[in-house]
Amino acid sequence: MAKRYAAPMEGLTTWLWRRVHAEIFGGTDKYFTPFLSPNDNCAFQRKELREIEDTAPLRVVPQIMAARAEHLIWASRELGQRGYEEINLNVGCPSGTVTAKHKGAGLLCRCDELDALLDAAFTALPAMRLSVKTRVGYASYDEWQALLAIYNRYPIHELIVHPRIRKEFYTGEARRSVFAWTREHTDLPLVYNGDVASAQDPAFAEPVMVGRGLLRDPALFRRAGGGAPASRAELNAYVTALADGYEAALGADAALHKMWELWVYLIEAFRGGEPYMKAMRKCRTLSAYRGVAGAVLRELPLVWQE
Ligand SMILES: Cc1cc2nc3c(=O)[nH]c(=O)nc-3n(C[C@H](O)[C@H](O)[C@H](O)COP(=O)(O)O)c2cc1C
Repeated sequence: MAKRYAAPMEGLTTWLWRRVHAEIFGGTDKYFTPFLSPNDNCAFQRKELREIEDTAPLRVVPQIMAARAEHLIWASRELGQRGYEEINLNVGCPSGTVTAKHKGAGLLCRCDELDALLDAAFTALPAMRLSVKTRVGYASYDEWQALLAIYNRYPIHELIVHPRIRKEFYTGEARRSVFAWTREHTDLPLVYNGDVASAQDPAFAEPVMVGRGLLRDPALFRRAGGGAPASRAELNAYVTALADGYEAALGADAALHKMWELWVYLIEAFRGGEPYMKAMRKCRTLSAYRGVAGAVLRELPLVWQE
């Protein structure tokens, strides 16, 4: 069966989400952490440490966002000492504050810097598996050929391709034709990422990474393997474990915000969720939120139970 990876989603696919998701729905070969952003301090922040501590037995790949080789190398060594054998480099984050620092998608318009970063990392870290998650251009799809030529020079463990360019952010449709073209022009192991939303998606025939689709339907991978769709009881256990876990770790207010963020996607698993979503956004306490979430789970039809 082709591999299925949970995409990194900042604020969403956290240490807690990964654990809860794996326990209830399973079906995921690798989970990627939201990006960790090392700097001159050579120390991960508290929030970042939470993402990389106590991740066993899940297969978790820490993702690094860096522009400078010394930051990437420091972080990779540190993670290696913590037992990680694979790390992932973010070459796709489109945020302006990130690209201004030449990080994430900011590397896509600076081919020399991208090349130098990969060269330094592969020279310094011969034992580490380094995978790359990339968009296919900064301002134009025409840039992809030159970018892929750079990637082709390195023993990249897996090249995860999100076929959008930076200036599109998450709008429009991922261009699967660009991924098909990529297949013909590289020998690197490829993973497809972008807009996979149904268990019947042909992308499941090959290694695939899914973000938003897995948040909308947490049992998507199980269904893609012929298994059952998410039941109400599972969804209830899922949101309850997340709200309880966030409350215990971060306090009730932060937990409320986290649950709002999650429901932006999860509400699409239900028909007629819009008014409930509005009510959820008006909740000022976690217990009020629990009331609305409970009503969604009891009252609304699931889109896959027609
Ligand atoms: C809210 C949000 C946060 C994201 N955070 C990250 C991140 O930390 N690292 C990363 O490489 N991509 C990040 N992404 C991009 C996703 O991993 C993924 O590439 C993108 O959503 C397209 O895949 P999808 O259509 O399956 O969601 C994020 C996307 C969204 C919408």
